[in-house]
Amino acid sequence: MRVKVKSLREMLKEIFGEDIPADIPRKYKIYGDIAVVKIPSKYRHLKKEIGDLILKNDPRIRSVVNIEKIHGTFREPIAEVIAGDPNTVTTIIENSCRFKLDVAKLMFCLGNQHERVRLANIVFSDEVVVDMFAGVGQFSIPIAVHCKPERIFAIEINPTAFRFLVENIFINHVEEVIFPILGNCREVIPAFLKGRADRIIMGFIEYTNRYLDAALVALRDKGGIIHFHNVYNSEDAIEMAISDIKDAAERSRRRLVKVIHKRIVKEYGPKLVHVVIDAKIK
Ligand SMILES: C[S@@+](CC[C@H](N)C(=O)[O-])C[C@H]1O[C@@H](n2cnc3c(N)ncnc32)[C@H](O)[C@@H]1O
Repeated sequence: MRVKVKSLREMLKEIFGEDIPADIPRKYKIYGDIAVVKIPSKYRHLKKEIGDLILKNDPRIRSVVNIEKIHGTFREPIAEVIAGDPNTVTTIIENSCRFKLDVAKLMFCLGNQHERVRLANIVFSDEVVVDMFAGVGQFSIPIAVHCKPERIFAIEINPTAFRFLVENIFINHVEEVIFPILGNCREVIPAFLKGRADRIIMGFIEYTNRYLDAALVALRDKGGIIHFHNVYNSEDAIEMAISDIKDAAERSRRRLVKVIHKRIVKEYGPKLVHVVIDAKIK
């Protein structure tokens, strides 16, 4: 049953009346049964009140988390519970898959849903896939559930994310398909996965171009497909991404034979966009 819930702007009238400041968030995101807001530091003194308002008005929500920022290699949030249950572990259900995670410690980008669904429709059953930045299984789990490839090697460096990745593999009953590996993909690939993959997923957006060389090591000699995500300046994002792939391929004595798909996934910041390129490499 759908519940009619007031918008955050409507809720905030209880605090500000009609004069709601323009820089206060207009919405919150929902992860399972947890609401996530980003309250600017200048309104820090109101965070408990805002959290209580959301909790009071939205029956779907068990606790409210304020995220100050996302930082570091592990893309970890700096977060705190501002209202409700202090337990921040929840389960997101998407595309018939269950993703358990701690929203105060890990990232799950709701804006990438289109990509997760798209990939879960294009992988073939005889393929070996390497997911270089597996997180809690955002790509590996739906691909395993819907495409049942021969094998997915899911590499994750952060032990907290890895713990949830392993749990999610069992929750979604895909332990026959996904082989999780805790480690740095740059070290794991040359050690264990050289020339094994038909398809590589590079779902990371912090200088992902620096990992292209490792991706190319994982690819079979006959070639395969790389799903390359990265952030670039919005003016020439797609061109820059393609040029990075081309250069890396040439460095590895390979060739970019075809750009199968290119898309701006989302805006990432002022003049910055997150792009994805599906590249066929020989
Ligand atoms: C932002 S998450 C994205 C998860 C998923 N690929 C997606 O696109 O939704 C990126 C993940 O990559 C992991 N990571 C970062 N550097 C890594 C590396 N060198 N090797 C393996 N995992 C890495 C981080 O810990 C994080 O869990």
